[in-house]
Amino acid sequence: MAEAKGRIRVGVLLSGRGTNLAALSEYRRRQDRAYDLVLAASNVPEARGLVVARTLGIPIWAKSHKGMERAAFDRLLDAELRRHDVEVVALAGYMRLLSPEFIAAWEGRILNIHPSLLPLYKGLDTHARALAAGDMWAGCSVHVVTDALDDGPVIAQARVRIRERDSAETLAARVLEEEHKLYPQALDEFCATLRGQAR
Ligand code: GRF
Repeated sequence: MAEAKGRIRVGVLLSGRGTNLAALSEYRRRQDRAYDLVLAASNVPEARGLVVARTLGIPIWAKSHKGMERAAFDRLLDAELRRHDVEVVALAGYMRLLSPEFIAAWEGRILNIHPSLLPLYKGLDTHARALAAGDMWAGCSVHVVTDALDDGPVIAQARVRIRERDSAETLAARVLEEEHKLYPQALDEFCATLRGQAR
């Protein structure tokens, strides 16, 4: 893996809209940061996020995982990331479990943004579950990915007050706004630390 001297080379994995990718890119463009987005990769070739990436001038790689074993697909993904000298992998709505081999190969260098206040509500439907539980707060978390789902060390969190009239959709929209602020800052800090360690 190319060790970092300048900015850390980040590869983003996505399967959907790509609004977090856009936020990471926007934050990076506004001023010099500790990271560069060098690849957007997807297991969903028709993902809107790939269009976003193309518009932003970020190289893309897309391949459907359908009909492939997880480990075999992840080996292709791994090869592509390495071809681009990626040093940190940022999951941004990547809706597929990564193989243990992939996670081990990138240990401590994969981040994810999850739309809940972890350790609460791992997995899907986080906002509906927070509402059903009568919670006062929802939010989002950036964490290091380990091989247990949504379970690695949390490095940043933002809270959002739940309103009485919230639906899962209205709450998700407000949490997403926070995601767009939190993830770029957390990734930047993470990469700055990594860069410091490499010196
Ligand atoms: C976000 O809500 C994120 O927390 C979750 O997947 C969603 C991705 O949204 N992991 P987008 O594709 O970045 O718009």
